[in-house]
Amino acid sequence: MPSIELSSKQTADFELLANDGFAPLTGFQGKADYDAVVETMRLADGAPWSIPVVLGAETGEVGETVDLIGSQGEALGTITIEEVYERDLKNEAEKVYRTTDDAHPGVAALYSENSRVIAGPIEANTLPDHIDIVKPYLLTPAETKAEFAKRGWKTVVGFQTRNPIHRAHEYITKVALEGVDGLFLHPLVGETKSDDIDAETRMRCYEVLIDGYYVKERVLLGVNPAAMRYAGPREAIFHALVRRNYGCTHFIVGRDHAGVGDYYGTFDAQHIFDEFEPGELGIEPLKFEHSFWCNLTGSMATSKTSPAGPEDKVFLSGTAVREMLTRGERPPVEFTRPEVADVLIEAMAGAEVPA
Ligand code: ADX
Repeated sequence: MPSIELSSKQTADFELLANDGFAPLTGFQGKADYDAVVETMRLADGAPWSIPVVLGAETGEVGETVDLIGSQGEALGTITIEEVYERDLKNEAEKVYRTTDDAHPGVAALYSENSRVIAGPIEANTLPDHIDIVKPYLLTPAETKAEFAKRGWKTVVGFQTRNPIHRAHEYITKVALEGVDGLFLHPLVGETKSDDIDAETRMRCYEVLIDGYYVKERVLLGVNPAAMRYAGPREAIFHALVRRNYGCTHFIVGRDHAGVGDYYGTFDAQHIFDEFEPGELGIEPLKFEHSFWCNLTGSMATSKTSPAGPEDKVFLSGTAVREMLTRGERPPVEFTRPEVADVLIEAMAGAEVPA
């Protein structure tokens, strides 16, 4: 049988197709769905879907069944090719990423893909391999739904993150948890841009934070195998739909969700939810203002809850925090829990201090 080697992003897409994380999709999208997703944020049948899930490949013809090999050499399963078509990468960039600039990491990744696309249903023999620390958390949507039911959670808020968890993340997850039964911490562990903190280090951060600062019966840690797109608003919808599939009823969308650089407005990823009818997505966004430690109130806050002026708000740039960590210094406790800082300091020991 002919075979195709998948990139790590394609391998992650395969996993989410196979485990129902991308439901209602059952395979890599054909042209009618692709066009509808790019132009209207919907599948051809009208169901919401905001980012194409397609398989760019140089080989494979209509009617063939092709073996799919994962990025670690796994014999994942097959695709039965029903369609082969060309996609317009620049148009996809413009509509999905709102920019055609190849300095945007998601757009650069898109441009590196094949514009020739093969489409059709997949059959999975096995799921992709993962690093050891991730393995205990590789729950499928069926498994998370069963776990939520076992815990008696009727309402569950999902949290997407690709960064080491800091106090603002902790704050918004806990404020959200006050209104629902359970919290599903669901960090993304697929491919991220090279200057993001690696998944292994981040997993250690989530573990020590949950250990020290969360009520274990009220939080479940899982992992989302997806690759990061950095598509801001469109990706916020995509992230929400995936968490709906994992059984969440609510989904946190904070400042510049899934954003990068200055490509998106701070709250664009919240506004985009207004383009859908209430209830249509099957998951409710919980929208958060920019949160920070406030010296006036002596607590985490946002501009909704604290009248403090700028002098009382503790904001630190990512670069400043990295500099401290690389020097072996803990950032202020108002910004990062010491246990999390220590994981990051250990991981960054010997790293180059950013310019
Ligand atoms: S993201 O690419 O996964 O969105 P990150 O891990 O930093 O990046 O953010 C995870 C979630 O927390 C997103 O919903 C984001 O909007 C939110 N968030 C991050 N920092 C803050 C903050 N200081 N205030 C409010 N929301 C935040």
